[in-house]
Amino acid sequence: MTPEEASAQRPADPGALAGRFEEEAAAVGDRGGWDELRIRWMGRKQGIVRGLLANMKDVPPQERRDYGQAVNRLKTAVEEGLERLEGELEERERAVAQRSAAVDVTLPGRRPAVGAVHPTNLVIRDMAQIFAELGFSVAEGPEVESDYHNFTALNMPPDHPARDTQDTFFLDPGRVLRTHTSPVQIRTMEARRPPIKIICPGRVYRNDNDLRHSPMFHQVEGLAVAEGITFADLKGTLEAFLKRLFHPDTGVRLRPSYFPFTEPSAEVDVTCPFCDGAGCATCSGSGWLEILGAGMVNPRVLEMCDIDPRRYSGFAFGMGVDRVAMSRYGVPNIRMLFDNDERLLRQI
Ligand code: PHE
Repeated sequence: MTPEEASAQRPADPGALAGRFEEEAAAVGDRGGWDELRIRWMGRKQGIVRGLLANMKDVPPQERRDYGQAVNRLKTAVEEGLERLEGELEERERAVAQRSAAVDVTLPGRRPAVGAVHPTNLVIRDMAQIFAELGFSVAEGPEVESDYHNFTALNMPPDHPARDTQDTFFLDPGRVLRTHTSPVQIRTMEARRPPIKIICPGRVYRNDNDLRHSPMFHQVEGLAVAEGITFADLKGTLEAFLKRLFHPDTGVRLRPSYFPFTEPSAEVDVTCPFCDGAGCATCSGSGWLEILGAGMVNPRVLEMCDIDPRRYSGFAFGMGVDRVAMSRYGVPNIRMLFDNDERLLRQI
């Protein structure tokens, strides 16, 4: 005797089955489970309710009416139960979808990537700040410059041998990429009368490329022109500036030098900030770092700008900014300053 035949002989009590349906329904958590439940109870071939109706023929005739009513009550209860459960599942799915689509206002915000000031500009800012306190304002000029302003007006006429030292990028005839920011000093003296106290920060270009030279680099130059300016003013200004820029105990040394646009001229060294003058790899063991060129403005330069050298005198100086940035931030190769690798820039 198979189980089906057994149950056919002893039909289940439909009233008792309603409780079992409720138990099974309570355990259903998703649409898949709901489908299985529906097929198990209401399936047209093997469904429990259908099976109960098919068993009618085995019920003694006098009980058939009660039995039939009990099966119908169960059928209604199952149908209603399934419908209710379907509604609940839909509601639950909607709630889950809503929750995952919602903005969680308690999450921390995403920070936008903000830029930072480039190390070379940090140094330029520091320099400009120190000179501002010494009474100098900032002047700027074009990077594509006339041969006249870059050379001739600085006492370097055509064929002057000093032009060779500037590794110039020539553009059209008579125009160059400026090799220094000194032409800004010329433009200022052409446009204004003394007293003049300016610094000229900016990009300059020379055909030179190795670990410590880049074809584009930055300078800050300075100019002071007034009545009665002496070499002592130059020395005092540079000492005050360099001790502020590096360290109050920094030593400053002037060596005689030559520039066509200054007379007399000097090169200025500071005690090496890495070894305090003891001698190290950065200063090649000398204890000194060459930091700028300077001198008293050549009277011929003043004359070319229509400033009377018998009444006025001045001093000028110029320095590379990137070298200072390299030594201050420990950057070994000048190109690293211009590759704009964020890993380097973020560290500074
Ligand atoms: N213009 C010079 C250079 O670029 C620097 C300098 C400026 C030297 C002013 C003396 C006086 O090399």
